[in-house]
Amino acid sequence: MPANRQILLVSRPEGWVTEANFKLEAAPLPKPGDGQFLVRNHWLSLDPYMRGRMDAKKSYAKYVELGEVMTGGTVGEVVESRHPRFASGELVTGAFGWQEYAVSDGAGVRKVDGSKAPPSYALGVLGMPGVTAWMGLLDIAQPQPGETVVVSAASGAVGSVVGQLAKLKGCRAVGIAGGKAKCDSVVGELGFDACVDYKAGRLRDDLPAAAPKGIDVHFENVGGEVLDAVLPLMNPASRITICGLVSQYNATEPYGVRNLRSVLVNRIRMQGFIVSDRMELWPRALEELGRWVGEGRIKYRETVAQGLENAPRAFIGMLRGENLGKQLVKLV
Ligand SMILES: NC(=O)c1ccc[n+]([C@@H]2O[C@H](COP(=O)([O-])OP(=O)(O)OC[C@H]3O[C@@H](n4cnc5c(N)ncnc54)[C@H](OP(=O)(O)O)[C@@H]3O)[C@@H](O)[C@H]2O)c1
Repeated sequence: MPANRQILLVSRPEGWVTEANFKLEAAPLPKPGDGQFLVRNHWLSLDPYMRGRMDAKKSYAKYVELGEVMTGGTVGEVVESRHPRFASGELVTGAFGWQEYAVSDGAGVRKVDGSKAPPSYALGVLGMPGVTAWMGLLDIAQPQPGETVVVSAASGAVGSVVGQLAKLKGCRAVGIAGGKAKCDSVVGELGFDACVDYKAGRLRDDLPAAAPKGIDVHFENVGGEVLDAVLPLMNPASRITICGLVSQYNATEPYGVRNLRSVLVNRIRMQGFIVSDRMELWPRALEELGRWVGEGRIKYRETVAQGLENAPRAFIGMLRGENLGKQLVKLV
């Protein structure tokens, strides 16, 4: 009988995450009871929010206890079922954690149609990150044709979709990303109008050149110095969606934003959001994203690590910007 290899959280990071915060263990294979099914996970999603779950702090979701399996979304195959709605062989996605097998009662589980798109897309453009881009841009910021939309972490899972949605809505899409290779991909492959490499150290000169008419919508994934560089360029009645602050997730001291005056004088609407707050929007978002991916109007990149044992290293790498597109771990 195969064991269920799992990655547990065994210590809390002080500042940057290290591989020593995790431990690989082999547990017995769980047995599904009545009304349950067993999933063999094929793909594990690595996401910035997981860094927050490692700290014993109050947040929008409960943190992971020490000794617990790390929380995470996966795509897997039902391999044994005692559930009326889930049959062996079906592909599903759910919060099954950093482990090779999981038992579920079906709550919060979505079936995946592997004939329409690669199953791994259910963890990216056709899953939580894609819906995040859709909700934060189209529902919250509501860009209008001709407006300039800027997005940070532009080559990542969320940012890459934001810029392409902006183009679909007739906007000028400007990305901010770390390094020339990422910026070349954002413009050359994804079709953004421009991309600014913040690691070149000239953000305050390069960003106004890329957004000569100012910024109408800023989709913030990063925070810190990037947000400070964006704020003075915002137009009157512009919108800022605060989606994430990844530059701060491993920081011991929060960055103090200097240019908030722009929010006042430009009457900027700045709104944070959590994608799970509005589950009623998911079906429409997934339908539209699925259609646009199918039509080739949204392109999508993945970076794949091999094997559960490499998940901690890949997670730290993603937080450091080593990923291009969605960071995944292939488990099978
Ligand atoms: N509100 C919600 O419901 C929700 C849902 C999903 C995701 N999010 C947020 O969305 C953001 C993007 O998530 P994702 O899954 O798409 O991750 P991702 O962009 O694929 O990966 C994270 C990226 O962050 C960038 N980064 C890391 N440290 C940085 C720093 N100090 N300065 C600037 N950029 C830095 C890196 O890109 P570079 O190489 O370009 O630096 C890295 O590739 C995160 O902040 C995440 O927390 C929010």
